[in-house]
Amino acid sequence: MWMQERFIIGGSVVKINPSEITPEHVYLSRRRFLKGVAALAATGFAVAACGPQESSPAVVPTAEPGLAYPPLPTPSAASDELGAALTTYEAIINYNNFYEFTTSKERVAELAQGFRTSPWEVEVGGLIDKPRTFGLEDLLKFEQEERIYRLRCVEAWSMVVPWVGFPLRRLLEEVEPRSGAQYVRFETLYDPEQMPGLGRSSFSWPYEEGLRLDEAMDDLTLLATGIYGKPLPPQNGAPVRLVVPWKYGFKSIKSIVKIELVEEMPVSFWMDAAPQEYGFYANVNPEVSHPRWSQATERRIGGSGRMETLLFNGYEEEVAHLYEGMDLRRWY
Ligand code: MTE
Repeated sequence: MWMQERFIIGGSVVKINPSEITPEHVYLSRRRFLKGVAALAATGFAVAACGPQESSPAVVPTAEPGLAYPPLPTPSAASDELGAALTTYEAIINYNNFYEFTTSKERVAELAQGFRTSPWEVEVGGLIDKPRTFGLEDLLKFEQEERIYRLRCVEAWSMVVPWVGFPLRRLLEEVEPRSGAQYVRFETLYDPEQMPGLGRSSFSWPYEEGLRLDEAMDDLTLLATGIYGKPLPPQNGAPVRLVVPWKYGFKSIKSIVKIELVEEMPVSFWMDAAPQEYGFYANVNPEVSHPRWSQATERRIGGSGRMETLLFNGYEEEVAHLYEGMDLRRWY
């Protein structure tokens, strides 16, 4: 991932040195990753992809769209910058949380097959100077890059996912937020005909999430369109979802149809469903337990045993500055 960024410009792949396009703190952390890889190679340690822990049927995503995707970058490394192996494609697409379809992680893939993701539109509005509706084809015109991120679910399991997408910041810059905009609110499609989970639960739909504007503008915050160099399968939030790697996975809202810049802090789906259990920030923090379980350790899907959870999911150097002066134990 980190050696060179590959961009699709004018139909051809262009390689660009990360120092030309990346904020310095992110670039430096990528260099640390390279050192780690070199050290592993020197000890003769082979980084291997591991198989899924759950024995789930391999469901291949329906090759939907009537839309031509540009070539998407495929993983350029077998591990993340900490040396952890990528979770296999089969595990990533067969163990999902997507309550609009079902609360059963092993059944989302099957129930989401055939989900229509083309045509698809994302309406961007609120406190901005240039309100605009982006078709999926418009979103795919942003340079698509590879980002290998850890995904840490609040339920204490995790994966290492090679996403494809582009920083949300690029889209926000195009629509020109006004000075009163403090937060970004996101909404998932609400379609009971296609989403069987909507009719069978007491949740308040649609699924909504929010970020503070500076969190949304951070370079790590991604609008993902693919994984493993392929278009996102429905179960992973096709055709476009948010990925905020230093926050619990529920912030990474799937199948987005609306983005709104607002003044007030949005109430997210989980804040609404269980306010005593889920806060707005939801930054990964091993020291702040969920009321019903500890967050100190996690189970890596495809791995064995448990591993220690890292503050901000290991992205502390990149994002801790966003929370200076805030009591992380209180603002969970
Ligand atoms: N987005 C929507 N719309 N509905 C959901 O149920 N689940 C969240 C998040 N985004 C969810 C969602 C949770 S709890 C997690 S952990 C991640 O999606 C899981 O993403 P994955 O299935 O791609 O691993």
